[in-house]
Amino acid sequence: MSKLIVVVGSCMVDFISNVERLPKAGETVLGKEFKRSWGGKGANQCVAAAKLGASTMLIASLGSDIFGEEYFQALKSFNIDTKYIKLRKDISSGVAQIIVDDNGDNKIVIVPGANTLLSPADVDEAEDTVRKAAVLLAQFETSLETTLRALELHKGHGISIVNGAPAVANPDLNVLKNCDIFCINETEAEVMSGIEPLTLKNTQEALDKFFKLGCNTVIITLGAEGAVFASRDNPKMVHVPVEKVKPVDTTGAGDAFLGALAYFIAYHPSLTLKEQIRRACHVAKESVLKAATQASFPMKEELSKELFL
Ligand code: RIB
Repeated sequence: MSKLIVVVGSCMVDFISNVERLPKAGETVLGKEFKRSWGGKGANQCVAAAKLGASTMLIASLGSDIFGEEYFQALKSFNIDTKYIKLRKDISSGVAQIIVDDNGDNKIVIVPGANTLLSPADVDEAEDTVRKAAVLLAQFETSLETTLRALELHKGHGISIVNGAPAVANPDLNVLKNCDIFCINETEAEVMSGIEPLTLKNTQEALDKFFKLGCNTVIITLGAEGAVFASRDNPKMVHVPVEKVKPVDTTGAGDAFLGALAYFIAYHPSLTLKEQIRRACHVAKESVLKAATQASFPMKEELSKELFL
């Protein structure tokens, strides 16, 4: 049985500024530190799974600027199968401007660039591999049409997870209906459900809204509160708490969670979904203790052996 995790998603070059506090509209604040790192929700989730030892493939699109080739090589260094990553001509790689404050909170602006060129035809080229995947993982940073094509090819072959990030107010119902697991964070759940502020008390209401829209299983990650999940067949919300820590940088914590969840579903399929989520929350919690995204995701060797029993 294949354990391959296929990610159809974005690559972004992250430009990260650390500040004491996030600026208000029209305000300039003095930054403390700047760094460039590799990001994009698709690539981040793929790297998170690869760092846990998973066999992974990324279907993605990079630009012809100074970053494209360098990012491609960085992905290879994680042993990710890069056969279906395209380096496009005459377009820039996707970029993200990220500001992180002293509480570890962030604000992100993305300009998708070459990610916009990732098409259903690119997924078709990888058809045999997509069909073989134990887990298919996609996000909202690349075209919905492309995600739908991947979901269509993968149907009946394993578990598909769609991460609805960044949030859209009116998500495509076909995507929601055609994935096994739909995963979002609390802010995305507020945008998509219209329930604001979302607290543990009204999360069941949000979950019920997602089931009405056609979702099968829904996971909502809640930062320091862990995550909740429920399924259409079993709609009563289950809360999975996580150990509380003082975060250094929460950027990419959701990606660490999703990559780890894909890993535990592919490599520990006999665990309950609750236990797979609990272990993925633990990996995400470790990631917030370090700065940046991919660099903050733990390697399997850095984690307790019990997580892999
Ligand atoms: O989820 C974090 C990611 O969101 C960053 O790496 C940035 O590239 C944006 O896509």
